[in-house]
Amino acid sequence: MIKKILVTGGTGYIGSHTTVELQNNGFEVVIVDNLSNSNAGVIDRIEKITGIRPAFEKVDCADVVAMKKVFAAYPGIKGIIHFAADKAVGESVEKPLKYYRNNIDSLLTLLELMPENGVEGIVFSSSCTVYGQPASEYLPVSEQAPIQPAMSPYGNTKQINEEIIRDAIHSGAPYKSIILRYFNPIGAHPSSKIGELPNGIPQNLVPFLTQAAAGIRKELSVFGNDYSTPDGSCIRDYINVVDLAKAHVTAMNRMLENRSGLPLEYFNLGTGKGLSVLELIHSFEKATGVKVPYKIVGRREGDIEQIWADPRHANEVLGWKAVETIEDTLRSAWNWQNKMPTL
Ligand code: UD1
Repeated sequence: MIKKILVTGGTGYIGSHTTVELQNNGFEVVIVDNLSNSNAGVIDRIEKITGIRPAFEKVDCADVVAMKKVFAAYPGIKGIIHFAADKAVGESVEKPLKYYRNNIDSLLTLLELMPENGVEGIVFSSSCTVYGQPASEYLPVSEQAPIQPAMSPYGNTKQINEEIIRDAIHSGAPYKSIILRYFNPIGAHPSSKIGELPNGIPQNLVPFLTQAAAGIRKELSVFGNDYSTPDGSCIRDYINVVDLAKAHVTAMNRMLENRSGLPLEYFNLGTGKGLSVLELIHSFEKATGVKVPYKIVGRREGDIEQIWADPRHANEVLGWKAVETIEDTLRSAWNWQNKMPTL
C-alpha cells in the first residue's frame, strides 16, 4: 500500500529534495508550507524531476484550525517529516520571540493532532548545533556527546523541540520519532531544478561562495584564520543535500516498519569528514575551474571552531551513508547558481 507522508516545509531547501526522494521511493507526499522563505514554483519543479505532482497546501503548520482541515482533506497520513522552521541564526538573536513562537508552536500543533489522526511517527529536522563546541575528546561527534547550552535562540528552539518530543514519547504518546541531527547541508539536485534559494544576502557559506564566484558579490569574507585548526579557518562537515534527503526516506521506512522496536532514536547525519573554509574554497575551485574572490576578515560572533560527525550510528544502525564527493556536491551548487530561477 502506498504510504502517505506529510512534509512540512516541503517547498524549502531540504524539504523539496526530500519530497523528490520520497516520491522516487513510492511514497505519496502532502506538502504544507506557509511560503515564508520559499516559493510555490518549487512544486512544478518537483513534478518535472519525478513526474509526480505532490499535493500542496499553503498553510502555516502552527495554525491548529488550518492543520485540522489538512488532516481531514488528506486522510490516512502515516508519517510526518517536520522541516518547517525559521533557521537564520543571526535573525534569531534579534527576534527571539518570532523563533520561539514559530518553531515551537508548529511542533506542538503537529504532536497534538497526530494521535487523533492516526499518524504513527514524526521525523524531526534537528541540527548539530545542539552539541555546541564539543570538547576535543568528543570529536568527531557521536550521538553520545553532551548537549550544550544553545548559542542562539534558533539553536535553543532545536533543543527545546527535541525535549518536547522526548517528553511526549516518555509520557506514552501513541507515536514514534526519529530525530535527525544534520551537519552542514550543501549542494543541489543534479537536475539543477531545485536547490537553496537564499533570501537576500546569503548567510551560509556555500550560497555566498557561489554568488561571489558568479560576480553577484564582490568577494567572500572568510570569517577568521586564527582558529586552532591546521589552516586557522573553521572546520565543518559538509553533507550533500540529496544524500541527506535519502536519509529521511530510510528513517521513515525504519520508523513505520518499527524495525528498531524503539519509540525514539537519534542519528547524526554527516560525512565523517571535517573540511575547513579554506579547503572548501579550494575544493570548489578544483571542481569547477572557477576562482573564488575572497578575503580573510575577523571572526563571526557565535561561530564554533570545529565540528564534524561520527556517522557510524547512522551508517551501521540506520543503514545510510553519505556517498557523494565534495567535488560533485560543489559542482551541483555551482550548476544551481547558474540555472536557478530569479524570483
Ligand atoms: C549555522 C548553525 C547551524 C544551522 C545553520 C543553518 C551554528 C553554530 N550553526 O551553521 O546550526 O543549522 O547555520 O543555516 O549556529 N563562513 C564564512 N563566510 C561566510 C559564511 C560562512 O567564512 O560568508 C564560515 C563560517 O564561519 C563557518 C562556515 O563558513 O565556519 C559555515 O558557516 P555557515 O554556512 O553559516 O553554517 P554554520 O554556521 O556552520
